[in-house]
Amino acid sequence: MVEVQKTVVSRTKQIVEQLEKTKISLDRKTKQLKLLHNISETLTLQLDIRKLLTSVIKLISQKTSTEKISVMLIDKKTKLLRIKAAKGVTKTKIKTVKFKIGEGVAGWVAREGKPVLVKNVLRSHRFKNVINEKEKRQLICVPLKVRARTIGVISVEEKVGGLAFTKDDLTILTTIGYEAAIAVSNALLFDEVQQSYFYTITALVKAMEAKEPYTQGHSDRVKKYALSIAREMRLSKENIELIKRFGALHDIGKIGIPLRILNKPDKLTKEEWKIIKSHPRIGVTIIETIDFMKLAKPIILSHHERYDGKGYPMRLRDKKIPLVAKIFNVADAYDAMLSNRPYRKAFNKEYALVELAQCAGTQFDPRIAKIAIKVFKKLDG
Ligand SMILES: [Fe+2]
Repeated sequence: MVEVQKTVVSRTKQIVEQLEKTKISLDRKTKQLKLLHNISETLTLQLDIRKLLTSVIKLISQKTSTEKISVMLIDKKTKLLRIKAAKGVTKTKIKTVKFKIGEGVAGWVAREGKPVLVKNVLRSHRFKNVINEKEKRQLICVPLKVRARTIGVISVEEKVGGLAFTKDDLTILTTIGYEAAIAVSNALLFDEVQQSYFYTITALVKAMEAKEPYTQGHSDRVKKYALSIAREMRLSKENIELIKRFGALHDIGKIGIPLRILNKPDKLTKEEWKIIKSHPRIGVTIIETIDFMKLAKPIILSHHERYDGKGYPMRLRDKKIPLVAKIFNVADAYDAMLSNRPYRKAFNKEYALVELAQCAGTQFDPRIAKIAIKVFKKLDG
């Protein structure tokens, strides 16, 4: 009887232990699934490559508690690995660090397409031939792989509090690497599509300018003037980027204006002016069908609105006019004064600057006109 009891107790103990192990394993699997869900939710919808890489860094920092993180991508032309986003890495390092495929731990991971956890790089047999002093002693490096192609690597060094990296850290990072690779690849593709649209539209602007000799180079110059004013005004990164990308397209709507009107050497009739004034709206109809170009709408639609509400096409007044459009209004007028027109010769710089000052508060936002005058005085020519 005692024997039977002993056996039952021992068996029960075994079952409890077994259950305990299964629970731990299930907990771990649930944790991994939650992590995977969390990662794909954070990364897959992001198409802006910069924002995406920032999210990747944030995610790695949260999940692995590391101080030093770099996301490197393989440059398509040079085939070198370069840091595209980082945490805890100096700006100089971000600019200068580059690895050939096969060079260093990062290069090895890029070539082999396998993740590694290196406890001590200097003692590692595998890396004794590939290490260089840029790399620390303890690190995890995982590939960014899309199908069989490696597009970059994630490298982490130095865990918070000097702790050692574990296999769990390696699993987490490999999972993040897997999801991040798909997201990065999508974002890069999206970027390429955007670029090709952008080049097409820019080519159209150039073609338009070529037919209208008086405005050659106008679109680019106005963009540069607007950019100088915006920088002086310390506009947000987003607005600066907006001007850089779309500034040269502000007059894209002129494609729809007959050349006999654009190049007419005599005074325009009322009817012809009406047609010229339709170019902002024509511009909007051109870009409206292309999703990412909708961002350019404020510049294209409102660059002829005036501070006093006497502009076109909507006669908007002061605060109703988008800030970037107000800047373009000043930049556009300045370049127009400095250019020859079919009906008059170009004015000189001094005259143009006096005009800007005189029209501050009527045509131009006085604050922007004041800054523009300061900026243009410093510019050559
Ligand atoms: Fe215009």
